[in-house]
Amino acid sequence: MIISQLICLLGFVIRLSNAANATFTNPILPGFNPDPSCIFVKEWDNTFFCTTSSFLTFPSIPLYASKDLVHWKHASYAISRGDQLPELYRNSELQTEGTWASTLRYRDGKFYLITSYVSWHDGWGPIILLLTTTDPYDDASWSGPIRFENPEKEIDPDLFWDDDGQVYMSVARGIFIHRVDISTGKILETFTVWNGTGDRNPEGPHIYNKDGYYYLSIGEGGTETNHSAVISRSTTISGPYEGYESNPVLTAKNTDAFFQTVGHTDYFQDATGNWWCVALATRSGPAWEIYPMGRETVLSPMTWDEGGWPIIDPIQGTMSGPLPPANTDLPGDGFWAHGGDEEDFRPGTQIPRQFLFWRPPKESLFKVSPAGHPNSLQVLPSRANLTADSQFEPLEDGMGFISRKQSSSVFQFTVDLEFDPKDADEEAGATVFLTQYQHIDVTVVNTRSCSTGELEQKFRFRPEALGKPGVKVPAARTITVPQAWAGKRMRFTITLDESQTYHFTVAPADKPDEELWMGSASTDIVSGGSGPFHGTLLGVFATSNGGTGKTAAYFSRWRYHPLKQEVESGVFLPIKE
Ligand SMILES: *[C@@H]1O[C@H](CO)[C@@H](O)[C@H](O)[C@H]1NC(C)=O
Ligand SMILES: *[C@@H]1O[C@H](CO)[C@@H](O)[C@H](O)[C@H]1NC(C)=O
Ligand SMILES: *[C@@H]1O[C@H](CO)[C@@H](O)[C@H](O)[C@H]1NC(C)=O
Ligand SMILES: *[C@@H]1O[C@H](CO)[C@@H](O)[C@H](O)[C@H]1NC(C)=O
Repeated sequence: MIISQLICLLGFVIRLSNAANATFTNPILPGFNPDPSCIFVKEWDNTFFCTTSSFLTFPSIPLYASKDLVHWKHASYAISRGDQLPELYRNSELQTEGTWASTLRYRDGKFYLITSYVSWHDGWGPIILLLTTTDPYDDASWSGPIRFENPEKEIDPDLFWDDDGQVYMSVARGIFIHRVDISTGKILETFTVWNGTGDRNPEGPHIYNKDGYYYLSIGEGGTETNHSAVISRSTTISGPYEGYESNPVLTAKNTDAFFQTVGHTDYFQDATGNWWCVALATRSGPAWEIYPMGRETVLSPMTWDEGGWPIIDPIQGTMSGPLPPANTDLPGDGFWAHGGDEEDFRPGTQIPRQFLFWRPPKESLFKVSPAGHPNSLQVLPSRANLTADSQFEPLEDGMGFISRKQSSSVFQFTVDLEFDPKDADEEAGATVFLTQYQHIDVTVVNTRSCSTGELEQKFRFRPEALGKPGVKVPAARTITVPQAWAGKRMRFTITLDESQTYHFTVAPADKPDEELWMGSASTDIVSGGSGPFHGTLLGVFATSNGGTGKTAAYFSRWRYHPLKQEVESGVFLPIKE
């Protein structure tokens, strides 16, 4: 009796001490990480797990893990094998195709991730997919997908288990709730429940069962600056749902907040019962013009009293809340969401976990430390360059491009290249890439001299802005590779400064101080346009530009140093790596 009272009291003291607030900074998942869905899983050592959307990037649908809501480590990719979703190999001009918003849930020892693959290939035709795993740290353990019925061609699926064991899948646009058989993907019953407050694009539904109510939270207004999170509730799953009179519960619409487009929320509770909200946001300010990292994942504390509606603190760069104690003890070989790269491609290692392809890769194009070239990443040239064309076959030809996300407002990215092109138009180098139609490249290219007809190696700086007509683009430049540098390993550096201008330089790797400026370009070029849902990637590529060249490019000493995060307009915080 006395002991149990003591334990109760102790519990109370621990709760009180946990209630002390600590500060954290947004975004919690920086760079291209939209549409978050997060859970807290006590059974997995009190760990939070989040997933975000990946569109055409591959491996697809990342899972991140955290013990303290501040330090997030990559856990796995739900789609890491091309045959899980062969549709991802399609050559689609529309760069917004691919895997969209998912919902992550945990039940009885299993993680469930339901998502949609969106394509306009044969007209609008999203496919709803369910993937499951019992080990969130292992790519290979993700099974499926099971393809669900989707008669209304809906997106943004949510999964909810009712107390009686029935499972419901809510979907958008306009919110439908389907009772489903999750072992087969069959729809058993359908309810049309709520269209939001009347704004466009009611989407991103999630259902929570609390205090005798089914709460239905959705986003509306579109994922641009009118984005808002709104909520309704009902005493029965099928409705009628009553909208909250003080909707929206979270938005940056009509504000001058630096974090804009706030919406697409998910809610979860931590070990001590505190509620938290994740959402997507864009660091653009209301002008919403400069946002190279696109939509990122942000966190906010919330209160949700019994029988009441959620109250969520508006999103800011620096916030405070009852965070769990700092803890970076997480398993696996994943990368840190805020971290940088020091990749040397040592013999016997794999392609680093944070590296991404545009669609599933043709694997033979990439090799770590090939014979004769230890400590390098071999990239064989693809016929298609980064812009590609209508003949491009992602599976057969592949794209000789590999990248990582830009995850900070100020950074330095440096990579060395050994490349001795033989044929005309062979090209290799580094890039800031938003989509095939918006990228800024700095390369070595073999060109035919107009005067002599001889092939000449040149450095080339070239912005591609087809995907954003009207944007101001600096002129392309080429300069002949200086005689003294011929045959040397070259160093390419891309930096981004506080003025949001990328700078591109080249140098011999053994004399980095002799660098030559190749060009500078505004982040405007890689904000929005053909990639309105994306964030930029920093990468390297090799191509024959439609020719027959086969010369391999060897990249080495890959360094990505995230330096500062902009957390308020013009306020930059240094990053501790
Ligand atoms: C939502 O809108 C659709 C299409 O306008 C309409 O058919 C449906 O009845 C509406 N649902 C509710 C619950 O208001
Ligand atoms: C936001 O809503 C206003 C008012 O309805 C509308 O005029 C504007 O075009 C919308 N903006 C976007 C980006 O959807
Ligand atoms: C801690 O932060 C939460 C969320 O902002 C707030 O509701 C609460 O009052 C704060 N507690 C203290 C002790 O400051
Ligand atoms: C990319 O390849 C296409 C042909 O596939 C070609 O028209 C275009 O000029 C190439 N781009 C560059 C920068 O060479």
